[in-house]
Amino acid sequence: MSYIDTLLRQATLGKLNLKNRIVRSATMLSGAEEKTGKPTDKLTGRYKELAAGGVGLIITGHLYVSPQGQASPRQVSISSDENVPELAKLVEAVHEFGCPIIFQISHAGAVAMKKEGELALGPSDLIDPNKGIHCRAMTVSEIHSTIDDFAKAAKRAKAANADGIQVHLAHGFLLNQFLSPILNKRKDAYGGDDIIKRARIVFELLEELRYRVGELPIWVKISVTEGIEGGYDSLDGIRLAEELAKMKADAIEVSGGTFYGDDALKPSRTGITAGQNEGYFAEEARAIKEKIKTHANVILVGGLRSLQTMGNFYEKGVADGFGLSRPLIAEPDLVNRWASGDREPSECISCNACSRLIKTGLVYCPVMRDAAEGTWAPPPEC
Ligand SMILES: Cc1cc2nc3c(=O)[nH]c(=O)nc-3n(C[C@H](O)[C@H](O)[C@H](O)COP(=O)(O)O)c2cc1C
Ligand code: SF4
Repeated sequence: MSYIDTLLRQATLGKLNLKNRIVRSATMLSGAEEKTGKPTDKLTGRYKELAAGGVGLIITGHLYVSPQGQASPRQVSISSDENVPELAKLVEAVHEFGCPIIFQISHAGAVAMKKEGELALGPSDLIDPNKGIHCRAMTVSEIHSTIDDFAKAAKRAKAANADGIQVHLAHGFLLNQFLSPILNKRKDAYGGDDIIKRARIVFELLEELRYRVGELPIWVKISVTEGIEGGYDSLDGIRLAEELAKMKADAIEVSGGTFYGDDALKPSRTGITAGQNEGYFAEEARAIKEKIKTHANVILVGGLRSLQTMGNFYEKGVADGFGLSRPLIAEPDLVNRWASGDREPSECISCNACSRLIKTGLVYCPVMRDAAEGTWAPPPEC
């Protein structure tokens, strides 16, 4: 059997039994109810479409664990028990297609939506208009209550029957801000000159999560490098991954960069061509996989566009599973297409027009819409 065929066969990743090794990486589609953050039927419809499209696992877009951690309007909230019934409906809708789903839980920290009369929370006091940051340092008691917010969110995920959780440690959100030597200037136990010291909040959180949700799979998504001048580099990111594996994270998804700051390396890069420059964090993922052996599964994400490249990476031991985001916005049924024998790469041209829709309504692919002009049925509210 070829490596490509193996990708499309049943596998166990991060304690989950999946029908293949292709994971829908967390992708914020917006589309929640504005006031409550409950998923709407239209948003649930998008998840159903993905589940029907053949992916082995869906990771939701990031769900905020507390109102102060909300990143953008119409983001789904897991910050209240009242949302559990709607979240459970979302899980059930996906399960009907035999697809597991895990909830990505997150706090935006310094880049959270501005709330009237409140400063955003971050690791340190900071004003940096270029990065869109104006935040105050969290007190130790706020750090403890944020850990509690994540733990309660994880319990809600379990109550909603999600198959696991993924903790968002990447892309410049709160937990990533603590890892950053640029944003974390703390002099107490939650700061320091080394990434392992700055990761204290993350380690405490993982311990608490394990205590509260027992055997529920706990995945993490990391930025292996911050990708910004003065930020942490991939050697730091690899050391962090080793510690996370020791802490019994079940799977480590390897991404990189930050969404804030014009000069930063971005997690969703443009200009990707199948067969040429796919999988821009592959070297780092391979290094992590070598270091952590079988302690946790490694998922690679970022610019993957063809089954051939993923097959090559799998053969070379780069990762155990492969995350796709934009290709599944462009073609939610991409994995079924590949499984049916059409092995042409994703039609996504990596232009990021979809990302610009996050603040306006349900995210969709305008490029595929334009290509199908005249025959295309627009998704609701776009
Ligand atoms: C519209 C959009 C929303 C995203 N939302 C999230 C998110 O909620 N959480 C996350 O970890 N990454 C998010 N990402 C990043 C993707 O998961 C992924 O890491 C990145 O786009 C690279 O993968 P790709 O080349 O397959 O798109 C988002 C990306 C896009 C384009
Ligand atoms: S708009 Fe469409 S083609 Fe462009 S990156 Fe998004 S999914 Fe890909």
